[in-house]
Amino acid sequence: MARILTGIQSSGVPHLGNALGAIEPALERAQQAENECFYFIADLHSLTSLKEPALRRENVRAVAAAWMALGLDVERHYFYLQSDVPEVTELTWYLSCYTPYPMLANAHSFKDKQDQLEEVNAGLFTYPVLMAADILLYDAEEVPVGKDQKQHLEMTRDIAGAFNHQAGQELLTLPAPRIDDQVMTIPGIDGRKMSKSYGNTIDIFAPAKTLKKQVMRIVTDSRELEEPKDPDRCHVFALYAHLAEGPAINTMRERYQAGGYGYGHAKKELLRVIHERYGAARERYEALMAEPARIDTALERGAEKVRPIARATLERLRAALGFGSR
Ligand code: TYM
Repeated sequence: MARILTGIQSSGVPHLGNALGAIEPALERAQQAENECFYFIADLHSLTSLKEPALRRENVRAVAAAWMALGLDVERHYFYLQSDVPEVTELTWYLSCYTPYPMLANAHSFKDKQDQLEEVNAGLFTYPVLMAADILLYDAEEVPVGKDQKQHLEMTRDIAGAFNHQAGQELLTLPAPRIDDQVMTIPGIDGRKMSKSYGNTIDIFAPAKTLKKQVMRIVTDSRELEEPKDPDRCHVFALYAHLAEGPAINTMRERYQAGGYGYGHAKKELLRVIHERYGAARERYEALMAEPARIDTALERGAEKVRPIARATLERLRAALGFGSR
């Protein structure tokens, strides 16, 4: 049995990049009978940037609804909210004392954010340690994520390795990253990595009109309708290739190369496959968002299921580290 874990920040409604890069590969693993999955919403992480409580709550529900709408069996697996298991913050402290300062200072995501943001808080700096705690608290063996999280997973392994080395025993399980080669980085409508912070997302759960607008805004070159086009240099085609079946992808490739096929045609076809693929999930998402008690109950049950596991890990570590009066 493999123990699989992954999380999504509650910093907005999950977009196509989250779905293809993390949620769907994770759901595939959840469908295999031999796996035990821990999928959670990283709301503590969202505090590094998002300060409005009402918006956080709304986002938490949106992320939860997305997982549920895309098909997570919340009864069979562990589906929970990070902040419902405060043990993770205690583990963060222990781990932070085994984390070399330069490792955090040199993290790509921190350096990127440091350049972009007005407010750079300490939470942003120690963000990878909380992420390591998320993973190590449950002895996760495998972590399906998009490519942007690769360095965070390497840091998790380094921190756990340093901890085990000093303890002289394998107290923490080193997780293996699982990054699907096909979907390592889903491009956004401007060709950069799809990310809420770049404002280039395709929001598969947004109202149909918004979704259409986003697809129609995908940046292309200025080739005329009649001209042949290079599918391998087009973001519309790149996105289509992530969503359509093999023969349909080949057909679009040939149309691009032949000429007489415009970017507008390709965008319409892309929008059609998005609706085809996510139409049913979109309906389930709306139904869940209209009845948030169902979401809250699923998360409450999930927290009840995971807390004993989290406590057991901490007891093991506290004993090994010499903490507590008993
Ligand atoms: P977050 O919330 O930024 O993204 C959630 C997941 O979606 C993937 N992803 C993408 N994959 C492919 N193409 C894209 N354009 C794209 N954009 C996002 C991310 O790689 C991620 O897998 N730090 C994490 C959340 C987290 C976590 C964890 C993940 C907290 N604790 C423990 C795994 C294990 C984050 O901010 O992901």
